[in-house]
Amino acid sequence: MPPNRSRKSRSMPWILAGGRMLSFGETFRGTAMSAQPEAKPKSSAAMRYLFLFLLGLVIGAIGVVMLMRTWDARKTPQDRLPEALMDLQAWHAGKLDEAIKQNRCDATNTIPHFRAMRSTGEDLEAAFPDLADDQRFKDHAAKYRGTLDAALASPPLDCAGVGTTLKQVGEACKGCHQDFRN
Ligand code: HEC
Repeated sequence: MPPNRSRKSRSMPWILAGGRMLSFGETFRGTAMSAQPEAKPKSSAAMRYLFLFLLGLVIGAIGVVMLMRTWDARKTPQDRLPEALMDLQAWHAGKLDEAIKQNRCDATNTIPHFRAMRSTGEDLEAAFPDLADDQRFKDHAAKYRGTLDAALASPPLDCAGVGTTLKQVGEACKGCHQDFRN
């Protein structure tokens, strides 16, 4: 046993050896020696680098997660609005689609969704302030609200009708997305 090896071994008694973490009570030298004959002194250095590399990865990953959480916590409701509003529209559209699939298209199951999409449609300009002055955006938003106004003025009463209305609303979504969604 060269003296410098045993010194190094003692300085990191908690290093991984043979795939398990050594406890402080165990002597690294004793375990390492029984597992690996003295012929390969390099492998313990390689282990140490691997360990440090993995430790670095873990600390880095934790750091990134913490940074992202801090970043997310700093978002204001206004920051969240575009995604929140769009997710809400998509949720209502999904519920209507579900109603059609389950053949439950009476007014109480469908009108509240159209009504919610219509009223939150008022927030489109507020959610996208950068686009609000763009005439094409205004037109798309107006068309979206107009489609829902028409649907609420003469509500569809069966699944075929709900399907047709939902398709028209979906086209209004798509029209705006084609111009403004990346
Ligand atoms: C007047 C414009 C407009 C209308 C109408 C519109 N959207 Fe959007 N939508 C956008 C824009 C702009 C984005 C891109 C947001 C971004 O990337 O920041 C978007 C993004 C989305 C997203 C992705 C959100 C995310 O997580 O980034 C979904 C889902 C979505 N819209 C659903 C809908 C549905 C469903 C409808 C109709 C029921 C609809 N949108 C109607 C403008 C519109």
